[in-house]
Amino acid sequence: MLLKLAAIVGCLAGLQLLYRVFKHVTSPLRSVPGPFLARFTDLWYFRALWKAKFEVVNKELHQKYGPIIRYGPNRYSFDDVTAAKTIYSHGTQFAKSDWYEAWSKPGVWNLFAERDITQHSKYRRQFQTEYSMSSLVEYEPFVDECAAVFDQRLQELSQCGLPVNMGHWMQCYAFDVIGCITFSKRLGFLDQGLDIGGVISAIENALVYSSLVGIYPFLHPYLFSFIGWLVGGGTGYVFAYTTQCMEEHQAAAQVMDVDEKPIPGRARDFISKFVAKHHRDPDVFTPEHIMEGCSNNMIAGSDTTAISLSAILYYLLKNPNTLAKLREEVKAAQLAAGTSSKDIPFKMSQAMPYLQAVIKEALRMHPATGLPIERVVPVGGATIAGRFFPQGSVVGVNTWIEHRNPRIFGEDANEFKPERWLSDDTEKVSFMNRHWMPFGLGSRTCIGRHISHLEISKLIPRLVRDYDFELAGDLDKNEWKTDNYWFVKPTNFSVRIIARKGS
Ligand code: HEM
Repeated sequence: MLLKLAAIVGCLAGLQLLYRVFKHVTSPLRSVPGPFLARFTDLWYFRALWKAKFEVVNKELHQKYGPIIRYGPNRYSFDDVTAAKTIYSHGTQFAKSDWYEAWSKPGVWNLFAERDITQHSKYRRQFQTEYSMSSLVEYEPFVDECAAVFDQRLQELSQCGLPVNMGHWMQCYAFDVIGCITFSKRLGFLDQGLDIGGVISAIENALVYSSLVGIYPFLHPYLFSFIGWLVGGGTGYVFAYTTQCMEEHQAAAQVMDVDEKPIPGRARDFISKFVAKHHRDPDVFTPEHIMEGCSNNMIAGSDTTAISLSAILYYLLKNPNTLAKLREEVKAAQLAAGTSSKDIPFKMSQAMPYLQAVIKEALRMHPATGLPIERVVPVGGATIAGRFFPQGSVVGVNTWIEHRNPRIFGEDANEFKPERWLSDDTEKVSFMNRHWMPFGLGSRTCIGRHISHLEISKLIPRLVRDYDFELAGDLDKNEWKTDNYWFVKPTNFSVRIIARKGS
């Protein structure tokens, strides 16, 4: 019996291989270079992604084969100055590829994973206001609260003198800030220094799951039944927590006025705003919207911010002159404002050009996402980087490739130089700006980018003003280690913390 079954499976696999070979030799894109196996099977990409270093592999492929390469039978990556604009510009009809299907519960929409362009733009409009620049003033008190608790922990850690995993602490900060902004409550990461409810590890496992299963999305509806077992209960914790907060808000005697303008200093969280929207239009803004909005914040907005914060600190520690210059700027800004407050107002941080250049440059050197951002060529096909791609081809630019392109950022593209953003050559700076894409580009650009900017701009000046950090382990001699499962996450960001005098 088993032998017969094996023979059938073997025959089917052989037939599929023959079909793939036939498809390849008849494809107009057969001359696009890339690894031999990647011509016939996505297993090549699966294996490469599994090894968690795809941003490096992607670069090597472009170095070996040129500006257009394949990394699967129907997957193409670009290292070209014009490609990102063609694929991601506002108004283009390049939808997200089916790789994104493994990023949502089967049959349930979420903003990040939605592939339908019309449906996505409808959802996006429903959420836009809460993430706008003008809403930031209402989230600022939450950031100050968490920064103060973080400060207490850093003081304690500095007293014990042992190296600490700064990547972990940045995650604790990012989770508690986003928890506060969303629910007005810290989940307790900073208070306990622990992975509350297993959320951090579950999100880490979910990243591995979704980035790998996304290559074979037809498996997702079957595998999803085992998601708790595969990734751990932490994502369930986020949903249960959100449900509990929703019930508390629904039961509240009064809901806020949706149309009331933001007032500086008054803290209003996401869930109050979402519940108020639901009360106004129960059929348009449903409980599903509240759940998706809140849980998306926790899941999409924590690791990304923590990785970016870690990258900024890491590059500052690797470049002591930059760190010294930044400290001078922070000191001068506080002197000019005549304040010795511990909190850094967001407005003040926006008036620190060097700080902004440091943030921009660190996110250029280490963007949080490290796989090609896949889109599908629309009906009629498209010419990308001078070559025609028929409809249905999956195309993408990896931010790590775009950000290290010497034709965009110069021959020193691999060096950390915040000064490049402060050049008098405004044309060059605006050209670089158009290719700076840590938050993606076009209609699918990150909806939470202003929030993460708020979190980052307020924390970094505070950290460098109040603490010295020494790279521990062998980090002073070597680069840090990272794993790439969509997010390129540091795994050994070990530092010693020393409180500075007067902090
Ligand atoms: C430094 C921090 C962050 C980085 C680097 C980042 C990066 C990104 C990127 C690259 C995308 C586009 C992905 C794609 O096209 O496939 C994206 C989308 C998204 N991000 Fe972020 N993100 C950050 C923070 C946040 C925060 C704080 C939130 C929520 C509060 C958030 C929520 C989202 C959502 C919901 C989407 C999907 C948007 C859409 O498709 O319309 N992100 N992010």
